[in-house]
Amino acid sequence: MNYRHAFHAGNFADCFKHGLLLWLLDALTRKSAPIFVLDTHAGAGAYDLAAAPAERTGEWRGGIGRLLDDTPEPLAPYVGLVRQLGLYPGSPALVRARLRPGDRLACCELHPEDHAALRRRFARDPQVGVHRRDGWEALGALLPPAERRGLVLIDPPYEAPDEFDRLARGLRAGHVRFPSGVFAAWYPIKHRAPSRGLLNAVAESGMRDVVTAELWVRAPLDPGRLNGCGLLVVNPPFRFAEETPAILAALLDRLGERETGEGTALIRLADE
Ligand SMILES: C[S@@+](CC[C@H](N)C(=O)[O-])C[C@H]1O[C@@H](n2cnc3c(N)ncnc32)[C@H](O)[C@@H]1O
Repeated sequence: MNYRHAFHAGNFADCFKHGLLLWLLDALTRKSAPIFVLDTHAGAGAYDLAAAPAERTGEWRGGIGRLLDDTPEPLAPYVGLVRQLGLYPGSPALVRARLRPGDRLACCELHPEDHAALRRRFARDPQVGVHRRDGWEALGALLPPAERRGLVLIDPPYEAPDEFDRLARGLRAGHVRFPSGVFAAWYPIKHRAPSRGLLNAVAESGMRDVVTAELWVRAPLDPGRLNGCGLLVVNPPFRFAEETPAILAALLDRLGERETGEGTALIRLADE
């Protein structure tokens, strides 16, 4: 386990993932019934962008740094929350900010330091459970929730070569246990083959109502660089397909480097 999110917090891929995550949370909390959120690979919860890891890569400057300087309207809820929270919020802090009384969040994190940071952050919070357990295993153990409504965020580090396959298997397993849940799974796009394999596996899995949103900051040709990323959503809430293109366009406008092959897409993988 070498991956530490602190080096990458607030980069273009985080802005993409967290901007869409916030839209999903706002859509889910429009109805009054309580929700349960499972964050299978939660990270440390919040990140100091002035600290050494973030400064060493400087990735945040090409991401949230630009959005804080000049916030496009479709990303205003997300950037507003980042401003309000102070430290750069990871997915647990973003989710926590949107929970209402009666909603719950469960976070899984295996890295000892990041797990300890999460534990400290939510030590006195009865609505948040922090688990030092394998997020893939939690898709079986913690689902379905008693609420029968909610969101499962799957955001692995893609360190292991089989992580795309694990994601396809994990999504299917989670969906069998919680068929009405909204599942959102982030994936990197370095070159095309791995993400194409994932999308084909999901399209052929029998799951219904699946879309994926993608953003490329350049053509996905160099497998050594993060050229883009995607968020695959099972059971997208009402108006996801109508409203997310404006978020994707705003992200590309602010975070793209005007390189050849940049773009966005919203692809339906399986009908309802
Ligand atoms: C991409 S980061 C998560 C970032 C976080 N979701 C966010 O958006 O702020 C992936 C995290 O998964 C953790 N991790 C790796 N393998 C795991 C596993 N099998 N179960 C739970 N956590 C794991 C890593 O330590 C790392 O902190």
